[in-house]
Amino acid sequence: MLFDCAALSPESTYKLLVSTVVPRPIAWVTTLDAEGVPNAAPYSFFNAVCGSPPVVCIGIGPKKPGLKDTGENIRRSGEFVVNLVPEKAARAMNVTAIDFPPGVNELVEAGLTPLPSTHVAPPRIAESPVALECRLLQLVDLAAGRAVVLGEVLAFQIDDACVLDASRCYIDTPRLGLIGRMHGAGGYVRTTDRLEMPRISLADWQARGAAG
Ligand SMILES: Cc1cc2nc3c(=O)[nH]c(=O)nc-3n(C[C@H](O)[C@H](O)[C@H](O)COP(=O)(O)O)c2cc1C
Repeated sequence: MLFDCAALSPESTYKLLVSTVVPRPIAWVTTLDAEGVPNAAPYSFFNAVCGSPPVVCIGIGPKKPGLKDTGENIRRSGEFVVNLVPEKAARAMNVTAIDFPPGVNELVEAGLTPLPSTHVAPPRIAESPVALECRLLQLVDLAAGRAVVLGEVLAFQIDDACVLDASRCYIDTPRLGLIGRMHGAGGYVRTTDRLEMPRISLADWQARGAAG
């Protein structure tokens, strides 16, 4: 069935996106407001989009008169931290998604522990095994008060227990225990159902053809 976006409402295109583009990693974003109060909220319109320079993107919705607090904090300060979400912190992450007014420290509300970052002012979340310290590259304003943030990753903070070989940047990814966002109001997925499929080189592909 064809769904032509030109004929669909914003609610419908949103529904189609979030029920088909799955699973999505979750950026648990920490920022500082103008008074220096920490802010934390999850964003699953999120992904890594370039390896070098390391760049991530986040899609941020409206909160009148501007963007949600995370977006306005990033626009003003140019800095943020993306904490990835382990299953053990899922409930706390969900608390930080509550529509608190500006100025409320969601880390306190959710009983989370802030840790200082090295390259940016916003803190990282101790309960997260991976934090990406980011500097704003570009904030692209979209229609209806929404925006996409592109951020360059300045530093990765990874739990020592999840680092297999630091010199080779080998990470024990299963041990991170991360979750992703699925469809439905409360749908999530674990990252333990791994499927193994090595890449095929052109030479291997051509050799198979010759053999067949
Ligand atoms: C798992 C999850 C993913 C979310 N992803 C997004 C998203 O990608 N974009 C968005 O605008 N809101 C998203 N939200 C809603 C925000 O987290 C929520 O509106 C929050 O209150 C925003 O906080 P802030 O105003 O402090 O930034 C998500 C919520 C949850 C629970």
